[in-house]
Amino acid sequence: MARSDLHTRVVAVLVAVTVAVFSVGCAKEAKRDDAVPADGGSTTTDVPHNSDSAALDATAAGIGDPYYPELGNGGYDVQHYDLDLTWDPGSSGTVAGRTTIKAKSTEKLESFHLDLLGMQVEEVTVDGESAENRRDGIHELVITPAEAIPDHHSFTVEVTYRGVPRIVDDALIPGLGGWITNNRQVYVASEPDGAASFFPVNDHPSDKATYDIHITAPADLSVVANGTHTGTTDNPDGTRSWSFEMPQPMASYLVQIVIANLRIEESASPAGVPIRHAIDEDVLATGEASMEGTGDMIDFFAEKFGPYPFDVYGGVVIDEPIPFALETQTLTLFPAETDSLTVAHELSHQWFGDDVSPATWKDIWLNEGFATYSSWLWADHAGDASVDDIIAYETDNAGPMDVPPVDPGADDLFNYGSVYVRGALTLHVLRHKIGDDDFFELLQTWVERYGGGSASTQDFEDLAEEVSGDDLTALFDAWLRSDDEPSLDDWLG
Ligand code: ARG
Ligand code: ZN
Repeated sequence: MARSDLHTRVVAVLVAVTVAVFSVGCAKEAKRDDAVPADGGSTTTDVPHNSDSAALDATAAGIGDPYYPELGNGGYDVQHYDLDLTWDPGSSGTVAGRTTIKAKSTEKLESFHLDLLGMQVEEVTVDGESAENRRDGIHELVITPAEAIPDHHSFTVEVTYRGVPRIVDDALIPGLGGWITNNRQVYVASEPDGAASFFPVNDHPSDKATYDIHITAPADLSVVANGTHTGTTDNPDGTRSWSFEMPQPMASYLVQIVIANLRIEESASPAGVPIRHAIDEDVLATGEASMEGTGDMIDFFAEKFGPYPFDVYGGVVIDEPIPFALETQTLTLFPAETDSLTVAHELSHQWFGDDVSPATWKDIWLNEGFATYSSWLWADHAGDASVDDIIAYETDNAGPMDVPPVDPGADDLFNYGSVYVRGALTLHVLRHKIGDDDFFELLQTWVERYGGGSASTQDFEDLAEEVSGDDLTALFDAWLRSDDEPSLDDWLG
């Protein structure tokens, strides 16, 4: 390629980086009018969260997340969710749901909690027997089975409920979390605490489970959800039911359901990984262009990080100018205009965040730092911009990096400078220190060892020392824990 061409493409990618920085950086300021669908539900709810970083112990009402004490619940472990949701756009967007949960107790349970935001609970059974239930605040459903559940006992809970899902004010974008409706369209953006807006759940990435998802909607709309499409049925009342199966464990914030006028496009990566994009017909050409590089990216990341972890991958491109994308498992949520760095970033989350999920929300850099670095590796490989050029650009433009990536605080979970870029730079200096061979062996071993589950920053530091045989305390202290922004020159010299 001629030098001038190369220059043009580097500038194009760096402009794309700017746009990505801009969209994340501006998300906090996103005006409700711009971002929130006109009739997006009746009530906005801010789930309370901790701003200090003290670790909490698990209680019945919370799994012990240092940032979100109400998320998840103690006393049991979920294996499988079967979600059955009927959505009726004609009745203010009411969802009628039946969720069946297969779980195992980790102690004797006289009663236990599920996270469920609002909703009218109609019936709860435990192992087929009707169970007492009451609400404790807006976010907790407390279930008392007829007989206590012994420790280490498998049990099945079925909750029948209905209501208009509340919109959750999440860490990044006020009014854009959970189940979002706009006219005759639905999408989901639950990271970190929106899943409970539409189903009863042990809402924490440390308790992953497999899913079956069944959605009933008006027959003129299409539905797409995580995993493989297993069937569609036309119902006598003019609605249509769609079923999907997600056989690998998934964190609850990664559940995706889109109901819209979608074009489903199936293909495969050059190496044969099945691809399924679902693109809103109203943004078809733009959406297709944005998704174009997906196949090559899958194969590139599979070579670097190990095999693609799930059965299918694709983007669901919606006709909403949302100022972010979200790496929902097997089916990333995208706005129509998405640059290749963001497409690569979200795809790499399938390994980092989705297959290996954060142990707590304080570990968010394990998602965002890794995905950011992965997107730089892609840009470099594609010849769009070298990692060094991107780093030079981001060092000047990413904004302050003076917050420790391991503790951005619940109100600043998606801090771009510190969590995304300083997180990515942590990996870059680590790669420099231990060398390419150990670095990529570390990433592959990370996915092999913790894939399907959740892992902490400590787990990563331990594995890095195990793989490299080096003492990396000083590096991780400076890059992950220091209040001062470390100097790249000190670490790359
Ligand atoms: N995980 C997303 C990313 O890859 C950030 C999503 C933040 N948006 C939100 N509504 N919580 O950058
Ligand atoms: Zn990300």
